[in-house]
Amino acid sequence: MKQLKGLDIVLKNFSKFILNFKYSRIFINEILVLSVLFVFLAFLFFEISFLKLLIILLVIIALNLLVLNSIGYKRRKEINEIKSVIKSIRKNKIANEEDIVLSKYLKNLEGNIKGMFQRTQNDIVRMEKLAQARSDFLGYVSHELRTPIFTIQGYLETLLDGAIDDAKVNRIFIKKALHHSGNLNALLNDLIDISMIESGLMSLSFKSFNIYDFLKNIIDEINSTEKIEGVNLKLLEFDKDIKVFGDKERLKQVMNNLISNALKYTPKGTIELSLYNKKKDVVICIKDSGIGIKKEDQKRIFERFYRTERDRSSLVPGTGLGLAIVKHILEAHNSSISVKSELGVGSEFTFKLKKD
Ligand SMILES: Nc1ncnc2c1ncn2[C@@H]1O[C@H](COP(=O)(O)OP(=O)(O)O)[C@@H](O)[C@H]1O
Ligand SMILES: [Mg+2]
Repeated sequence: MKQLKGLDIVLKNFSKFILNFKYSRIFINEILVLSVLFVFLAFLFFEISFLKLLIILLVIIALNLLVLNSIGYKRRKEINEIKSVIKSIRKNKIANEEDIVLSKYLKNLEGNIKGMFQRTQNDIVRMEKLAQARSDFLGYVSHELRTPIFTIQGYLETLLDGAIDDAKVNRIFIKKALHHSGNLNALLNDLIDISMIESGLMSLSFKSFNIYDFLKNIIDEINSTEKIEGVNLKLLEFDKDIKVFGDKERLKQVMNNLISNALKYTPKGTIELSLYNKKKDVVICIKDSGIGIKKEDQKRIFERFYRTERDRSSLVPGTGLGLAIVKHILEAHNSSISVKSELGVGSEFTFKLKKD
């Protein structure tokens, strides 16, 4: 019985030794070279007999085995430590980077693992935010689409139920349905634009063009096609030879959005477009004497779908996407938009463009 126990201990230690050896075998070449060198020097300088040499050789081999065992033991411990940290990260058992602790000789590696862990955590948070944004977006879109569709459906049903023969309302209802289908179309166009921009598919073609002609054309077009009552939309005079560099079509979209906002939110008054000529760029301002925007709303109006409480509940149509599109287009021009506004006094939107 005792013998068996003894044998068991020997076997256990031997298997540990083999295991340690596995971890230290990468050093075997160095140790062999050193040993051979040592024996060779002993033979050369001390003229030792062959038997003594053999004994020395055996002692060196035994010492080497002990050294390899000790190196292997330490390496095995360190590698197991690293393995266990990696396993805990993989199995999501680590919530905080402070939970990653390695022994003192591995502090440098510990720092690196912590850095990697932090990065993965950041990626996860970003992905969760994206997933949330996507589901918010779908929620908004379906809500925004439902309103005009239900309204159109309502008018069509009322017409079918008999109103079509009522000469007093039939035309009015058809006009209203048409108006809402127009809103639906505008919403879809804005949605297509915003999704194209956000997925990076908006391609811009930059050209040099005359900014006075560009703004004059936009104003003339609006003045000739839209019924503007009580509002004076005008372009203030400036140097007619300035050229800027940008995507003309996209910048037209920017101007149309800003002017249509100014028109929508200015029941009576003036809307002035002006341009300031600077050294390297021009500053374009769209100033209205309309209802203005509250301070706390000014920070948020460039978010997609954001409409102020007042305008969400009013009958003024809108998607809340216009300024988000404007912001994206100007960012693609390395520019940004800012707003100054006072309730009841008016608003002023300003942005820069590079001169050519
Ligand atoms: N010129 C302006 N005067 C007053 N409020 C404005 C003006 N331009 C924008 N806003 C406010 O900013 C919000 C967001 O504008 P926008 O993104 O163009 O959406 P929309 O015009 O479809 O409502 C508007 O709902 C409105 O409340
Ligand atoms: Mg708008």
